[in-house]
Amino acid sequence: MTDPAAPSQGRRSEDGSSDFATARRNQPAVETSRIGVDAGRIQAQLAHLATFTDAPPPAVTRVLWTPTDGAGRAYVSSLLEEVGLELRTDEIGTIYARWSGLDPSLPPVATGSHVDAIPNAGLYDGCVGVVGAIEAVRALRHAGFVPTRSIEIIVFASEEPTRFGVGCLGSRLMSGAMSPDQARALRDGEGHGVEEARRQAGWSGPLESVRLPEGTYYAFLELHIEQGPVLERLGLPIGLVTAIAAPATVRAVITGEGGHAGGLLMPDRHDALTASAELILCVEAGARGTGSIDTVGTVGQVSVFPGAVNGVPSEVRLSIDVRDVDGTRRDGVLRQIGDDAAGIASRRGVRIDLEVVTTDLPETMHPDLRNVLEASAADAGLATHPLPSRAYHDALFMPRICPTAMVFVPCRGGVSHRPDEFTAPEEVANGVRVLAHALARLSE
Ligand code: GLV
Ligand code: MN
Ligand code: MN
Repeated sequence: MTDPAAPSQGRRSEDGSSDFATARRNQPAVETSRIGVDAGRIQAQLAHLATFTDAPPPAVTRVLWTPTDGAGRAYVSSLLEEVGLELRTDEIGTIYARWSGLDPSLPPVATGSHVDAIPNAGLYDGCVGVVGAIEAVRALRHAGFVPTRSIEIIVFASEEPTRFGVGCLGSRLMSGAMSPDQARALRDGEGHGVEEARRQAGWSGPLESVRLPEGTYYAFLELHIEQGPVLERLGLPIGLVTAIAAPATVRAVITGEGGHAGGLLMPDRHDALTASAELILCVEAGARGTGSIDTVGTVGQVSVFPGAVNGVPSEVRLSIDVRDVDGTRRDGVLRQIGDDAAGIASRRGVRIDLEVVTTDLPETMHPDLRNVLEASAADAGLATHPLPSRAYHDALFMPRICPTAMVFVPCRGGVSHRPDEFTAPEEVANGVRVLAHALARLSE
């Protein structure tokens, strides 16, 4: 699904296509004292957004194109309209909200994130980058700032892989990392395709129209919680992302022989679940085996058929997620898992089919744009720390169409994808201050 030959923005920046020289100059575009970010309002909006959930609060579950996802995005649209932005929605539900600049011929500066949430999530992942962007625009307007370049907030559809097994569906299609035909081939857990599901949610125009050409934006910035413990441990308020780790997703189907839990004798068994248990341990061992803290491996979904107390499992389907900041090392782990699976299958007399769903490359954040963020943090009087993102984001795919960088704020205990995910209101507000300064510097 990934085109390894596609230019990374790290390479692109080396040819000097953009160094954001004006945006990096010493003086802030707007005096910090005039940027009034309201931490309480952001918190209240995040809390309200969290009421749109299919899980019992405080857990948040908002899966792509469900009525709850639609209601959450309708609330976000109302906030975008409240700050005077012009909205359009593409054919998969990504929202674009524009503050028109003085020179509409210039490519806009974009920022944003997502509001879909995995099952049993918290209220910060993605939402901070959306609600925070709205507050940044509100603060800049209130400060009397008038952008020359337009500023656009993007609320990506489907950053999470919950429904179709592929993360960042919106930004993959937008950037050309995935073709419309590849998207059409995806199926959700109930066998519904992307076309059918998006039509049911109200979008029926051509999927092809989601694609945006390179150069559509001058720059893209994403504000996000760190989803790791580094900033909190260092006691630092702002992270500047250096690179995003390379994620890979593999689906495994383990087929054995079912039978009666009482009658099928142990020497005769080809139990799909016990074979899967071995495979899961191999995923863990493969990730640990690199010896690097940067390699991680997870099996987060397992479905067992027929799922009876007294039935030997005949089929198991599971997901394998392996990531690393080093794509080559990640691929080594994937190969190891493949070899291990073959060994388990032959030893246990089961069949193991592995389907690689995605293998993405790591992506470097644009160094000059990072420098703009560094200057913006200095505007706000905030210290920064460079760090990789081990989670993926739409910022993994946006570099295909424009220079991209990310700002992190700390999150308590590094906890994310859990209902107790937490970032203090003032810490979120710090990220919004940096974002507001950066948007001003880039759009001035
Ligand atoms: C995004 O949520 C990820 O899985 O990194
Ligand atoms: Mn997430
Ligand atoms: Mn996220």
